[in-house]
Amino acid sequence: MKKTQIGELFGSVFGKEPDICEFAPGRVNLIGEHTDYNGGYVFPCATGLGITCAAAKRSDNIFRFYSKQFESCGITELTGDDLVLSGKWSDYPVSVIKTFANMGYSCQYGADFLFDGDLPDGSGLSSSAAMEVVTGKVLCELNGFSLTGQMLAVIGQFAENRFIGVNCGIMDQFASAMAKENNAVLLDTDTLSFEYVPVPFDKASIVIVNSGVRHSLASSAYNERRQQCQCALSDLKKVTDIKNLCSLSAEDFDSICVSISDEVCRRRAKHAVYENARTKLAASALQKGDIETFGSLMTQSHISLRDDYEVSCGELDYLVSTALGFNGVYGARMTGGGFGGCTVNLVKKEKAEAFENYIKEGYKSSYGISPAVFSL
Ligand code: GLA
Repeated sequence: MKKTQIGELFGSVFGKEPDICEFAPGRVNLIGEHTDYNGGYVFPCATGLGITCAAAKRSDNIFRFYSKQFESCGITELTGDDLVLSGKWSDYPVSVIKTFANMGYSCQYGADFLFDGDLPDGSGLSSSAAMEVVTGKVLCELNGFSLTGQMLAVIGQFAENRFIGVNCGIMDQFASAMAKENNAVLLDTDTLSFEYVPVPFDKASIVIVNSGVRHSLASSAYNERRQQCQCALSDLKKVTDIKNLCSLSAEDFDSICVSISDEVCRRRAKHAVYENARTKLAASALQKGDIETFGSLMTQSHISLRDDYEVSCGELDYLVSTALGFNGVYGARMTGGGFGGCTVNLVKKEKAEAFENYIKEGYKSSYGISPAVFSL
């Protein structure tokens, strides 16, 4: 939505003009899945889609929230000293305000917030992280707080862990806060050091396909994966001195993995360690312009997420295997937490349009729905 349109909507909802307008993008992770809470590397890239927030400061202590995507929820109104969560979408911005306050950045006055976005909710493209980051940007601007993008990412993650109850890693919030156009960001989630890597959009397109599948148990299954990694780590710590799973190379892991007593936890850990190795290889392949190697690592990542980490589903597997049957696809995989959501496909630039039609038709004929597809 353009700034003028969001301004008009703000006027019709709140009866005044917004003071400011901010934007935060969603992300697509190219490779490095379920490594961010294991101290490993991730390699996300911003999408052009995201969430815009128009806001106006108030002279009292009241906060009001409205979202165009959740119109039926109406306006949520809360006072600054009673920021209670209600199980609605507005818990995301409210959690960010609470986290700011916990960190000593209390808002002296309330504000009115209006959100609008084009990220499909529940598609694994980080609409929650974009909402957390855009709220953080708005709070900084309205209150004169000076926080870096990294700090906004950490605040967003904390808000989600502590108040929303999803024990996510830092990747999504970091990508949303720190993204740079035409670049992916190679982030070491252990140290938060990072490096931008240009994506060769002149040669290849990144095509995102939304399966439209959304599993209601995704957040509990996500938290369970995290616990299984913890359980593997504590077994490994009995035989080696490591901080987290991704401190291990694949070879080191192979030599000590028998010490992980539970077979399922061992497979989860294997995924994390090997995925971390693939991510480093993939980023350096991209730096050298080796798109073929990058694509084949993406596909290996999918296989590992499907078989060892078990976070894929029939629809995502179908989309990936169908994509790989198209001449011009370098690699394909599910992206994000899994259990539905999107696939990411690396496609020869001149073949991208034909690929979009091919995958839409294939999915429609097998699952009866036309998937939303867009290219970066
Ligand atoms: C979700 C989480 C991230 C990350 C991915 C899986 O998107 O929010 O922190 O763990 O899943 O890579």
